[in-house]
This record gives sequence, C-alpha cells and structure tokens, in this order.
Amino acid sequence: MNGNIPAREITPRETFLSRRRLLQTLGIGASVAATGGVYAWLADPGPSPYRTSGRGPREGDGGGAAVSMADTLTPPETFTHYNNYYEFSTDKRDPALLAAGFKPRPWSVTVDGRVAKPRTLDLDQLLSLAPAEERVYRHRCVEGWSMVIPWLGFPLAALLKAAEPLAGAKFVAFTSLLDPARMPGQKSSVLRWPYVEGLRMDEAMHPLTLLSHGAYGEALLPQNGAPLHLVIPWKYGFKGAKAIVRITLVDTQPATTWNLYSPADYGFYSNVNPSITRPRFSQRFEDRLGETVDRRPTLAFNGYAEQVADLYRGMDLAKDY
Ligand code: MTE
Repeated sequence: MNGNIPAREITPRETFLSRRRLLQTLGIGASVAATGGVYAWLADPGPSPYRTSGRGPREGDGGGAAVSMADTLTPPETFTHYNNYYEFSTDKRDPALLAAGFKPRPWSVTVDGRVAKPRTLDLDQLLSLAPAEERVYRHRCVEGWSMVIPWLGFPLAALLKAAEPLAGAKFVAFTSLLDPARMPGQKSSVLRWPYVEGLRMDEAMHPLTLLSHGAYGEALLPQNGAPLHLVIPWKYGFKGAKAIVRITLVDTQPATTWNLYSPADYGFYSNVNPSITRPRFSQRFEDRLGETVDRRPTLAFNGYAEQVADLYRGMDLAKDY
C-alpha cells in the first residue's frame, strides 16, 4: 500500500466488468440464482438489528441493515482474488494462489491483558460463543477501492464480554499469526511482523464490529484471513486484521503496523473520511469493484455515521490522530 512497494493497486476495470457481466450480481437473491446456489445462506442467523436476511436490500433498510439501496454485492470471485495480505505477497492477485495450502485449523486465540478471565480458546470453542450472523457491509480500502461483502460472524463484543474486561481496559490490541514457514511474505521485511492492529475499547465493543469467520455463506478462505478476520465497516480495511491469534485488552493506545510504517497515511483511528487527503491517496472518491459506475463519492464513516459518529464526539474529524 505504500509508494515504495510495487503494489498493483487496482485491477483493470475490464476484468471486473467481465466478471460482472458473467455473474449479473444484482443483490443477494439474484446472486444466488445467477450462481446456481453457490452461497449456502444461513436459514436463521439469529436476531440482529444489523443483519440483512437472505434477500437484496430494500427501501427502508437504511443504515440499520448496513447496506443501502445503491449497494450491490461484489462478485465473490473479486472478494477472493483481489486481496491485500502482505504475509503472502504485496501483489493482490497472489494470496489466492500462495495461501491456497494454508490450514486454518487447528487454531487458537488468546484473550488476555486487562480482563478478569484470560483464556485461550480453540476455534470450535470460539465459534460456539455466539450464533453466526450475516452482515452485508461496505468494505473500503484506503487505496480507493471498495466492495460490498456478505460477512458471517458475530460481534467482537461477545468474545470481549466473556473475558470480563477490567476497568483499566481502554484499548484492544489485535495480533495476527507470525509463522514465516507458512506465510512466505513474512520472510521479507516489507512490514514489521507480526501484523498488529488496535481499536479503542468502545469501538471494539460497538455492535457493528464483527469477528468474521465466513463470507458468501461459506467459511473464510485463507486469502481472506481464515479463520478470523476482524471487520470494522466504518474504518479503512487495513484496520481489520486477518488470521488473528491474540486479542489483548490494554490501558494505552497500541502500536499498529501501518501507522508505524507511515503515520501520515495510516492514522490509528482511520475512519473513512472523504475530507482527509492522505499523501498517497485522495479520499474523495472510490472505485466500487465490479460495478459499471465510474467513481462514487466516498461517504463519511463509509456510510455508517448514524451508528458511529457519536463515538467521536469532541474529536476534530478533520484530523486522524
Ligand atoms: N491483515 C493482515 N494480517 N495482513 C494484511 O496484509 N491487509 C489489510 C486487512 N487485514 C492485511 C490484513 C488490508 S490493507 C485490507 S484492505 C484487508 O485486510 C483486505 O481484506 P480482504 O482481502 O478480505 O478483502
């Protein structure tokens, strides 16, 4: 994502247009029909004010359903073949190939730090903590592209509450897997490893913040961060760490990988914000992958202002901190 890295930023539009013509992805119902039922939609993902059901968005869904009338699901091939995953490669086309043999089981996640009940859970224990919900969210990368993804997962709050946060817990630090033998990109010093990210405690507890383990009705593929990918839909995509192995509640703002790399481009908060121009990436517009419309204006908080703007009351939104 940085200028020193030969990242091929956005796949040529024609590639995605042809995929779009192929799939004619016009909403969830149409997607299922067009792909012969490739997605196994959950019959009853459980009640949530934020989930959409197995249908296309309807008028009145508004922010609560987290997808607007103007949004169309991104073709699954785009989601699974256009990936930022530096543990495997700096080229977005490589993770689908290079991570194909990566086994996300056995897996365990440690929750520790300022909690009354620190614990290490294996994946089955973790998945049994809360029912899987389907959440269709806009997914916005700081590089200027966006997608619309039907994630499966549960609120991160369910995991944090189970560990019983102590009063001193002000931030949450996320650590991705460090394993150069399985993640060839970690043999390069392109970033400091392991990949680390962080949220303020109230951001981590917000009901939109999702610990995702699936998408498009299936378990996550390795290139999408299997088995666990954090999703914070009002922030730039790099805030959502993949392949999480440790979640630590701390009292001070944790260091984060991209912020260490280039603080001017990658602030700690990094809420989607069209008015903050970053040295490498103007944020006024975005390119919705898989769509025919040229560029669309970037929405403040990626369109989730109604749900999250209150978290930042008193902070100067023209700054990224
Ligand atoms: N997490 C780890 N561990 N390593 C990464 O390189 N890339 C981030 C984020 N999480 C990244 C990561 C970036 S820049 C983006 S845009 C999203 O993952 C991409 O997620 P996706 O491939 O599922 O769309």
